Amino acid sequence: KIAKGDFSPIPPMCKYRGEFTTVELAINQMIQELQLREVAMIESHKLRAIGTLTAGVAHELNNPLNNIMLTAHAMLEDHKALSEDELLEMINDVINEADRSRKIIRNLLDFAREGESVSGPLDLAALVNETIKLAQNQIKVTGTKIETQIQTHLPQIRGDKQQLKQVFLNLILNALDAVGKQGTIKISLEQADNPGFLAVKVEDNGSGIPDYILPNIFDPFFTTKGPGKGTGLGLSVSHGIVNIHGGQISIESEEGKYSRFTVILPSLNVPADFKKP
Ligand SMILES: Nc1ncnc2c1ncn2[C@@H]1O[C@H](COP(=O)(O)OP(=O)(O)OP(=O)(O)O)[C@@H](O)[C@H]1O
Ligand SMILES: [Mg+2]
Repeated sequence: KIAKGDFSPIPPMCKYRGEFTTVELAINQMIQELQLREVAMIESHKLRAIGTLTAGVAHELNNPLNNIMLTAHAMLEDHKALSEDELLEMINDVINEADRSRKIIRNLLDFAREGESVSGPLDLAALVNETIKLAQNQIKVTGTKIETQIQTHLPQIRGDKQQLKQVFLNLILNALDAVGKQGTIKISLEQADNPGFLAVKVEDNGSGIPDYILPNIFDPFFTTKGPGKGTGLGLSVSHGIVNIHGGQISIESEEGKYSRFTVILPSLNVPADFKKP
């Protein structure tokens, strides 16, 4: 039971304290400790993902900041020669560029800030779209093409928004690592073949995964990326999160051709945009 990731405490086997009671208590304490470690592991990998995203944010901020600088300098040097209309237009440019910078930062801050784990009904389509936005700066830097096929009007799911975002972010960041400049990443959301489940697929036409490492990719600390580039925790943490949510994560891949990760999650049976009459 524990080996499969079910950390619910073992109920006492007999009414009175017997020779197994000490073992039961010790195992329950171990289970509690394992749960705490799992939470800590999810948190530490989230911090790592934030680190990766920060690089993309910094890169994307360069453009609007340059524009603000250029416009401000022009105003400083030429303000006497400029008409009031021209000056107003330049001030508006500065405001727009500052607003663009704020939007670039806001997504990352939202993801970084919300720490506490809360479970509730979620619209998976919105969640997947928000995650793509979160990775958008990274995607721009690498020049990768993204194709999405997100079905709306699907039933909601129950879960922790931040944790599930982390799962899809890990899959997208892995796909970005695997594709070159010519790469394409396809992200889709639809009803799964299994009734009562929704399926999110993240597919890339990058390096693919050789058969001999396929059985290891979900193992903690398994990575083929160089030191400082990967911790090998992304997929194991994602696997843990999906498991907690009663779902499954699976992989199909062919070396040199593609990798397709499929996450299925149980749905609540009300369409996300269902309005009561
Ligand atoms: N889309 C993919 N294409 C090719 N190989 C992949 C893909 N996703 C995962 N892998 C392989 O699985 C390994 C484990 O992935 P995982 O996300 O757990 O760790 P990582 O990406 O190496 O490190 P981290 O997630 O901490 O940055 C990767 O090192 C890579 O070899
Ligand atoms: Mg990874």
